[in-house]
Amino acid sequence: MCRPPRHPARRFAHGEEIPVEGSHDLEIFFDEILSTPTTEELLVGLYEKALPALKAALERHLNETNMLADQPSVRLCRFALIEIDDMLEFGIRSVASLVDDSQRENSRNWISLLEDCLAAAGDISGAQEPSPRQIKRQHSAVPYQYDRIPRRDERFPDPYNMGVNAEVFLYDEKFRPEPKTVMMFYKRLREVDVPEMMASIITETSDKPWDYYRDMTRQLWDEARHAMMGEAGFVSLGIDWPRRVMVNFTWSLALNTQLKPIERHAVLYFIEQGLMPKNGKRFEWEVGLASHNPLSALFQDYDWADEVLHARIGRDWYLKEFKNPQEAIRYGDECWSRVLMNWENWRQKGLTQHRNWWPDVYCDACKHWGVEPDAQVLAYNTTYQTVRADLKGLTGSA
Ligand SMILES: [Fe+2]
Ligand SMILES: [Fe+2]
Repeated sequence: MCRPPRHPARRFAHGEEIPVEGSHDLEIFFDEILSTPTTEELLVGLYEKALPALKAALERHLNETNMLADQPSVRLCRFALIEIDDMLEFGIRSVASLVDDSQRENSRNWISLLEDCLAAAGDISGAQEPSPRQIKRQHSAVPYQYDRIPRRDERFPDPYNMGVNAEVFLYDEKFRPEPKTVMMFYKRLREVDVPEMMASIITETSDKPWDYYRDMTRQLWDEARHAMMGEAGFVSLGIDWPRRVMVNFTWSLALNTQLKPIERHAVLYFIEQGLMPKNGKRFEWEVGLASHNPLSALFQDYDWADEVLHARIGRDWYLKEFKNPQEAIRYGDECWSRVLMNWENWRQKGLTQHRNWWPDVYCDACKHWGVEPDAQVLAYNTTYQTVRADLKGLTGSA
């Protein structure tokens, strides 16, 4: 979730910034939503309070403004409303599936607090007459603490499993392209760890220009899309991925808990630069084409295009911190080398057995294709115990 601006309601007259009465109440409004300990309240706060208030403010502006004098803002508001309606549609469906009446009843006082904040602020735009209320912080009475440890739901039952090395398989010439597309769907789906890691960089990096947060959020959104491409790929093959494919979170967990934000960005930059040469994203796209799986080829085409943009974002926001590109790359490599992956330790602690789930998934795909499994592919059994995801000179996922 994006952090709200420190002073949410300010007006600018001829470039001069004037604090607006009620901005403190809006600050509490967003702090409360940020600090809520439950998913249910987070959904209600965002999708039943914050976004509808923003939508109403944009509509009000459209109604009240002079269409000629303020045409650029009118145009902007209209486009923003399209996206806000998309977000609301997602939110309404999420609330309907996750929030029941008893949870709503438990949160009654808190929901009233949010309404009081908006009323006291004269609404989100400050355009209404403020109605003074007694505002007392609840969840945000203690300042919000960002939790770097990724959380996943029941679709990820074995999050420490590093039993199937996707890259060794993908770059082994003895295997045909068809099973490689299945492994690439896994590589895409596993990318859910990139938004988990990027969210921590964005949250813990303050005082950058607005464009930094816009670019980094665009990339985070792309990485979430890449993970969904993997999910769609498995669904297209009739594979029940939450039961069959063990998607780990070890990369985001390790980077978030062991490295500083700039060091995490360094690792991301190092990986993404490694995706540009011929054996990176181009190779994955060529495998997709050669496999005659149109969905895989399409996804890899757009995945590659997105990575070109990400490499540019890295040049704009990470590279500038260094004297030269070589130094920036070397630092990224060094930061990644410092990250400890406790492969054996996790097994000893009983967190995972690093079970080889590949043969089951491959058999499901063969059933879908109506072909007999290839014995060599079926026997694939290389883990991440000794080989880093980028194979030192091959590639990682981002
Ligand atoms: Fe990606
Ligand atoms: Fe990327």
